[in-house]
Amino acid sequence: MTFIARDVTDAATAASQCAILPLFQDTKLAGAALKLDKASSGSIKAALALGDFSAKSGESLMLPGTNAAKRILLIGCGDAKTFDREAARKFSRTLYHALLNKQASEAMLHLAGLGLKENEAKWMLTYLARHLTAASYRYTETVSKPRAAMKLTRLVINTKGAIQSRLAASALREGNAIGLGINEAANLANLPGNICTPSYLARHARKLARSSAKLSVSVVEEKQMRALGMGALLSVSAGSEQSAKLIVMNYKGGKTADKPQVLVGKGVTFDSGGISLKPGAKMDEMKFDMGGAASVFGTMRAIAELALPLNVVGIVAAAENMPDGKATKPGDIVTSMSGKTIEVLNTDAEGRLVLCDALTYVARFKPAAVIDIATLTGACVVALGSHATGLFANEDVLAEQLLAAGTDSHDRAWRMPLWDDYQAQIKSNFADLANIGGPGGGSITAACFLSHFARDYNWAHLDIAGSGWNSAPKGATGRPVALLTRYLLDRAGQ
Ligand code: BES
Ligand code: MN
Ligand code: ZN
Repeated sequence: MTFIARDVTDAATAASQCAILPLFQDTKLAGAALKLDKASSGSIKAALALGDFSAKSGESLMLPGTNAAKRILLIGCGDAKTFDREAARKFSRTLYHALLNKQASEAMLHLAGLGLKENEAKWMLTYLARHLTAASYRYTETVSKPRAAMKLTRLVINTKGAIQSRLAASALREGNAIGLGINEAANLANLPGNICTPSYLARHARKLARSSAKLSVSVVEEKQMRALGMGALLSVSAGSEQSAKLIVMNYKGGKTADKPQVLVGKGVTFDSGGISLKPGAKMDEMKFDMGGAASVFGTMRAIAELALPLNVVGIVAAAENMPDGKATKPGDIVTSMSGKTIEVLNTDAEGRLVLCDALTYVARFKPAAVIDIATLTGACVVALGSHATGLFANEDVLAEQLLAAGTDSHDRAWRMPLWDDYQAQIKSNFADLANIGGPGGGSITAACFLSHFARDYNWAHLDIAGSGWNSAPKGATGRPVALLTRYLLDRAGQ
């Protein structure tokens, strides 16, 4: 999808397959709407008078257009006084649905009709570009006839009277990059476990690196993991035919001395539970257990696309969790790279095992901050459902920055406690730590476990077990790429 910002002086004579007009309830036609109404012999006023369209929020009406604008699409925006970001998001959805089954491959949105302040217009365009790009994503890899996508491939924004076109263009570019990042994450997560293996992810990282001169990739293989003492990560892949991969993507957009932002994704390409085997129902959904890793790929893609002036290291801890004669057993004790020993009381609590060694590993980058993203616990789904990502942090400023990025991008997170009181639950009689913490506060004890390996830097943990995918219809959401990209844009001062 291509987005273009342009100052169009005369809406009535601008050539387009579809002129899109946002309209508020109970207001007189003005600007582009008035011009197009006149040019179409009063078709808009007629539709309003007939009552077919009253500009209620979520309403839309397609009218035949003029010689220049072949169609006129009216989008209802409700009450002008209450048009906020929520209403702006609804506008984007309404626009998408109104065009989904139409033949127009190009359209022109006359933005001034919304009467937004420049800052809000900028936000709106970022969201619109992101939303249309993400809504156009279709999973195609393993289906013969993918669901039809929207015909629209080019959206022109008439910025006249609304926003400087230079600002609009950068907002559209940002939104489009975030949308592409979301799609990248969703597509990887949607792939089945027999295609999307740890080595597939490693190959994918190399492919991604070829698209940007600022991005380089290296992969830590099992032999090297053994030398590094990554006994926790290796204990997860022990029962799998697929070897684990620690994928390191290094994006150098900042100055050499700038400390990097580090993202660490849980990349369990299939989580059977291991010897602590999961029940059969919905076990297929555990192909999404690399959703955290997918969001790291998506975010790296977005920042590379935007050439952000920032150093970012993206780490993916990839492994498959399977039962086997060689698999780790409940009660086994492993030694992590940090030197801490871990009693594996449940092999299904594997996410924290792959992450803890990755968290120790990343200290070498002297990070400004480390954020891990993981489909870590079913308990997080119980606590927050699917709307909020669970946020845990060992530092308040970082927590606030991430919460703010989530709110701004409408990819929201909610902070959970990381109090010492919970640490007692992960004590072990036989090792330094147990990998499960009993029935209460499962997402918190999982985060407490990780906190032991993130002592040397500012760290946050995002549990996306609920927000990472939808169960009906099944599919990955691409979250929290929007949150993470917003966070990084903010750090780059953009
Ligand atoms: N990948 C799962 C978490 C999960 C469960 C995500 C359901 C999305 C939906 C994780 O590896 C896991 O199995 N966690 C266990 C931990 C328990 C054994 C302490 C869980 O949540 O049940
Ligand atoms: Mn598990
Ligand atoms: Zn898992």
